[in-house]
Amino acid sequence: PLVPTAELVRAAHADGRGIGAFNVITLEHAEAVVAGAEAAGLPAVCQISENAVRFHGGSLAPIARATAAVAESAAVPVGLHLDHVTDEDLLRRAADCGFGSVMYDASALPHARNVAATRAAADWAHDRGLWLEAELGEIGGKDGVHAPGARTDPAEAAAFVAATGIDALAVAVGSSHAMTTRTARLDHDLIGRLRGAATVPLVLHGSTGVPDDELRRAVAGGMVKINIGTALNIAFTGAVRDFLAADSVTVDPRRYLSSARTRMASAVESALRVLG
Ligand code: G3H
Ligand code: ZN
Repeated sequence: PLVPTAELVRAAHADGRGIGAFNVITLEHAEAVVAGAEAAGLPAVCQISENAVRFHGGSLAPIARATAAVAESAAVPVGLHLDHVTDEDLLRRAADCGFGSVMYDASALPHARNVAATRAAADWAHDRGLWLEAELGEIGGKDGVHAPGARTDPAEAAAFVAATGIDALAVAVGSSHAMTTRTARLDHDLIGRLRGAATVPLVLHGSTGVPDDELRRAVAGGMVKINIGTALNIAFTGAVRDFLAADSVTVDPRRYLSSARTRMASAVESALRVLG
């Protein structure tokens, strides 16, 4: 079933588990996330990023409603999250497409403007029963530039949570978006201090680049929502590439998309098993 993201994060937080949140770009991705979660017998979150909405020509409803429908028929609980929203208009459109949560990302703004904009976004979200995630200490890599050196300050994190009323906080602790190698090293001491300072669940972005043992340690240390995107693209595109390299005759996209979907589902399943 489709369930509120808040429920999944709260349960994972209470049990000291991680909840995997996986980027969805197309319908096949949503099907792969649900298939992987069912294979693992664990809940998961499907998340659609502002960039993915841009890929769909700015239309949110078709991919969101399709993903929500796939989640509704899942045998395990699945949440629907709108990720990395910088556009206020897109934020407002989240209210009628089945989302349980949104990440409002004003982390590129100067601190005072990040606080004010995030406070307004959280108030708006809470009026509509939506759970709101925000980011402090910009996690690099979305623009192709890796910035694994960025760090979130624990005292600032505590003040930011108190000033904005957000439900979860994405923190910079050594990961970086869009890595294709799993070589990131996390600052576990900082994770511990952030867990103590922030009163809300912590979110790890750029988790593709983080090796399994580092992810396990991060979850044990207090990271709760674990966002994974690029690893799925590696699996999906790798399967398409392998299929087409071995077959120059097939024209039916269902042939190579089904192998891509299957490989992506396996990637989701193994990531979920690591997170517990
Ligand atoms: O919000 C999405 C995640 O941070 C994905 O990052 O593509 O590096 O795994 P990743
Ligand atoms: Zn991210």
